[in-house]
Amino acid sequence: MKKYKVGIIGATGMVGQRFATILENHPWFEVVVLAASPRSAGKKYKDALGSKWVMDTPVPASMADMIVKDATADVEKIASMVDFVFCAVDMKKDEIKALEERYAKAECPVVSNNSAHRGTPDVPMIVPELNADHVKVIPAQRKRLGTKRGFIAVKSNCSLQSYVPALFPLSKFGVEDVLVCTYQAISGAGKTFDTWPEMVDNVIPYIGGEEEKSEQEPLKIWGKVEGDKIVNAASPRFTAQCLRVPVSNGHMGAVFVRFKNKPSKEEILETWKDFKGRAQELQLPSAPKQFLNYFTEDNMPQTKLQRNLEGGMAISIGRLREDTQYDYKFVCLSHNTLRGAAGGAVLMAELLCAEGYMD
Ligand SMILES: NC(=O)c1ccc[n+]([C@@H]2O[C@H](COP(=O)([O-])OP(=O)(O)OC[C@H]3O[C@@H](n4cnc5c(N)ncnc54)[C@H](OP(=O)(O)O)[C@@H]3O)[C@@H](O)[C@H]2O)c1
Repeated sequence: MKKYKVGIIGATGMVGQRFATILENHPWFEVVVLAASPRSAGKKYKDALGSKWVMDTPVPASMADMIVKDATADVEKIASMVDFVFCAVDMKKDEIKALEERYAKAECPVVSNNSAHRGTPDVPMIVPELNADHVKVIPAQRKRLGTKRGFIAVKSNCSLQSYVPALFPLSKFGVEDVLVCTYQAISGAGKTFDTWPEMVDNVIPYIGGEEEKSEQEPLKIWGKVEGDKIVNAASPRFTAQCLRVPVSNGHMGAVFVRFKNKPSKEEILETWKDFKGRAQELQLPSAPKQFLNYFTEDNMPQTKLQRNLEGGMAISIGRLREDTQYDYKFVCLSHNTLRGAAGGAVLMAELLCAEGYMD
């Protein structure tokens, strides 16, 4: 397989750093350009990072001395250097929308972690194990943008990457109502305990915009490509409360679910055990071998013990039991900056390459 040349837009941020570490030895992708704000542009990557580097491993040697480009001023130059870019920037929503469209119109596909285009009907929002068929909307998006290669594909919000993977395969039983409370790590806000000391020994019961995303984005994943757009599903109905908890990495969800045709506990466990998606069929390099992992112990999954399962790309589930008001309840866990952000985006890019959309 040929090596694709890629860029990281927002390379100095929390998600951008994850991209850098994941892509350091990637079998299909080679990072050839890094970009960030004008504050970082013109500096070596290691100098632009300064003390901002928060990964466990050192800054990748192949990137440390790269001169960081300006993500906005250098669009055309960056587009000419790469096959596609990953994008994770902290800018205003309308600015991100415009920036991502500029890259796409410069014939540079964008694999985005940002929320700006998640609601755009012809922009696929893909979890490669669940709705890989949504890639089919890309030709319609290219037509709207007037491009041959360029398009935008987005990742969903990190909060739902624990409960949507667990619920989606249960669709055959008719998932009707879902109540979920999420317990979200501080890295989801681009923070560490050093940069956000108020989070030590604390819980904050509000994450701006998160509950809306947690309730609405699943409906796009359950949606169908119809003509030139993705039509959102009308159900399941989701209600969510999202809490920030004093955890570095790993979002947990506590889920209550009601079905049209209530399955047995064994049927649910069997479905999770047997579930494989397009990512596993295609044996994509970042795909976990076992996507959904059920733990039988009462005190599992635990954030510290399971968040890194299969390189942080697998979902951990536990405590499935009947409920007095809903049919069942359970807990689930995913790594928010791996599966939930950079890792999920890399897996989506692998899918897009394997399906021929990056050629
Ligand atoms: N953290 C997560 O778990 C997570 C999960 C899913 C999605 N996301 C999304 O990913 C995006 C980035 O999140 P993050 O946590 O990585 O944020 P972050 O740590 O604050 O990093 C932000 C990045 O954006 C760059 N940037 C800021 N202003 C810019 C500008 N005007 N032009 C170009 N680049 C600019 C920064 O560059 P400088 O260093 O030069 O300022 C930095 O590289 C956000 O949209 C966020 O919602 C985050």
